[in-house]
Amino acid sequence: MTQTPVAQLSQAEAAEELARLAAELAAHDERYYRQDAPTVSDADYDALKRRNAAIEARFPELVRGDSPSRRVGAAPSESFAPVEHGVPMLSLDNAFDAADVEDFVRRIRRFLGLDETPIAFTAEPKIDGLSASLLYEDGRLVRGATRGDGRVGEDVTANLLTLSDIPRRLAGTGWPDRIEVRGEVYIAHEAFAAMNAAAEAAGEKTYANPRNAAAGSLRQIDAAVTARRPLRFFAYAWGEISASFAETQAEALARLADWGFPVNPRSLRVIDVQGLLDVYAGLERDRAGLGYDIDGVVYKVDRLDWQGRLGAVGRVPRWAIAHKFPAEQATTTLLEIDIQVGRTGALTPVAKLAPVTVGGVVVRNATLHNADEIARKDVRVGDTVIVQRAGDVIPQIVGVVETDRPPGSEPFAFPTVCPCALRTAVTRETTTGGAETVVQRCTGELACPFQKIEHLKHFVSRRAFDIEGLGEKQLVSLFEDGLLREPADIFTLAARDRQNLKKLKDREGAGETSVANLFAAIEARRTIPLARFIFGLGVRHIGETTAQTLARGYGSVTAFLAAMDAVAAGDEAAAVELDALDQIGEAVIVAVRSFFAESHNRAMVQRLVEQLTVVDAEAPKSDTAVAGKTVVFTGALERMTRDEAKAQAERLGAKVAASVSKKTDIVVAGPGAGSKLKTATELGIQVLTEEEWLQLVDAG
Ligand code: IVH
Repeated sequence: MTQTPVAQLSQAEAAEELARLAAELAAHDERYYRQDAPTVSDADYDALKRRNAAIEARFPELVRGDSPSRRVGAAPSESFAPVEHGVPMLSLDNAFDAADVEDFVRRIRRFLGLDETPIAFTAEPKIDGLSASLLYEDGRLVRGATRGDGRVGEDVTANLLTLSDIPRRLAGTGWPDRIEVRGEVYIAHEAFAAMNAAAEAAGEKTYANPRNAAAGSLRQIDAAVTARRPLRFFAYAWGEISASFAETQAEALARLADWGFPVNPRSLRVIDVQGLLDVYAGLERDRAGLGYDIDGVVYKVDRLDWQGRLGAVGRVPRWAIAHKFPAEQATTTLLEIDIQVGRTGALTPVAKLAPVTVGGVVVRNATLHNADEIARKDVRVGDTVIVQRAGDVIPQIVGVVETDRPPGSEPFAFPTVCPCALRTAVTRETTTGGAETVVQRCTGELACPFQKIEHLKHFVSRRAFDIEGLGEKQLVSLFEDGLLREPADIFTLAARDRQNLKKLKDREGAGETSVANLFAAIEARRTIPLARFIFGLGVRHIGETTAQTLARGYGSVTAFLAAMDAVAAGDEAAAVELDALDQIGEAVIVAVRSFFAESHNRAMVQRLVEQLTVVDAEAPKSDTAVAGKTVVFTGALERMTRDEAKAQAERLGAKVAASVSKKTDIVVAGPGAGSKLKTATELGIQVLTEEEWLQLVDAG
């Protein structure tokens, strides 16, 4: 069969071919993995995979949900189809005490500019299960999915259909034509005990706690197995909707109940901080008797219009928070203190413990944070220690049972050199980010093998380059053999492998298919969005959100690197421009300067860029009246707060600056505006009142 070269494919042809390849490869996978009866040679299979990867690399926008490149390494029979959530499934920020709750309410008040106005909230038990999304069209359940990473989950429709708590058809009336209902799948205590007892009697796998049991039961390939598990459901939120159906969270919960969903009976509507804390106290008191696990209380701003105005920061909404119950504790023996080196060289002591069950989970490791913490608590090897676990947080050592200390023990001597082969000196660094913290850091930077490995791990991780098939084990082994030393090497791996006599496929644990899959996965990421590229670099303080801000701010990799070079070279104007981006502060500027000023870092980035096609960031909204404009707010605003005005302007594609310069396009001046207004008038910049600004953005 003659094939059109990938470079000559039109978009439509590419889409058609990707569909065909997905089906063809799925059929081959089925025969290979499930029937053990492949009908093509490995070489032919690999050629199909490579062509698929090449087309995807040229047309990244056409990558299919069921693309063969997404199934790398795993037998497809063991995975669910990916489901992209139309509205991301967010997670929640945590509050641990009353002060955190007060802060939460204060932040909301400030953001909305509410002064003394009472704020209504719902307070809902935080069910300790796993969240699920249920899409209803014309009242019929058409798709059910897990949360996944919040953006993409797994299609578990058949499994969710087996839950009797989940209506197949919505009851009552008034539901939107299309509505995605969200809630928690969980298993109650009694049912969990019975299920484990039965499993034990049958010699089958038992689960550590109801949450694991719920997750394991929902993600069964065979829905008939799920059907036999005692899964329950509570609805508490929604995603995509074709029409609004309530004005408040409390009203929404009532509607969900009308339509046939179980809604937690302990969810209440209350006013202000005291109301929230009262519900918390009540639930903490009754917690053991509820019959299912809850790990805290979720507070949500009741008014949905306010929820909308508050929006989200990164992956958490501003309008909700989880007030967690105190952590569970247990005592055990500290066997050893290991020193681990993180991506940025921080030395973290890790406690190796005699295994102990804390809150239903077996704990073997706990963090000890840093040298000072060990000294302050005088934690010694051999001590009986108190271990604590709260939710998803890494277990911690809270203290030592001194009366149980074995005779002759010595205080722990924190190493003064990095445990890496370089044995580099360790510096003590004091940072003041809120509370003062001390970090021992290996000064070897990317010369330290531990940091290099951590850096590579970060680079291939899900939120960065997302290269499947390059897990920790593979990375470490390729690193130790000198095949992978830095990110750029990943993209030359296949080419080098063709020339090497000892092929990757001949290495232990590898095989022709898995290596081909790995190469295809790498190829598929050769084209990468700018934000992921920036995040993947692993510069300190540049998390996902900051990387996105930088990507949008600079647009292209060329502009980004030029700006970073300028900042590193001490160019003030470049630093000011960086500082002007939303949420970029001193810490990022310092980190950027030190990262890009290091010639070996810069060279590493250069080698990487040469391997990639970095896709420009989506230009900020360009179809609004203020898109691309630089706006300065000054003086008092009356209809919205400064934070809100800024967030809105940025949503509409404007850049918000702190000071007025020649680059400013619009100054929005409220009562009390002073020098900025004066400068604006002098420079002949357009000045608007708040009212005029709102008309402008509304019209846009
Ligand atoms: S609301 C943006 N309400 O907690 C709001 N979540 O830590 C997102 N959860 O992923 C969730 N009970 O799995 C909400 N009443 C409740 C909840 C609840 C349990 C879980 C849920 C979510 C996690 C966030």
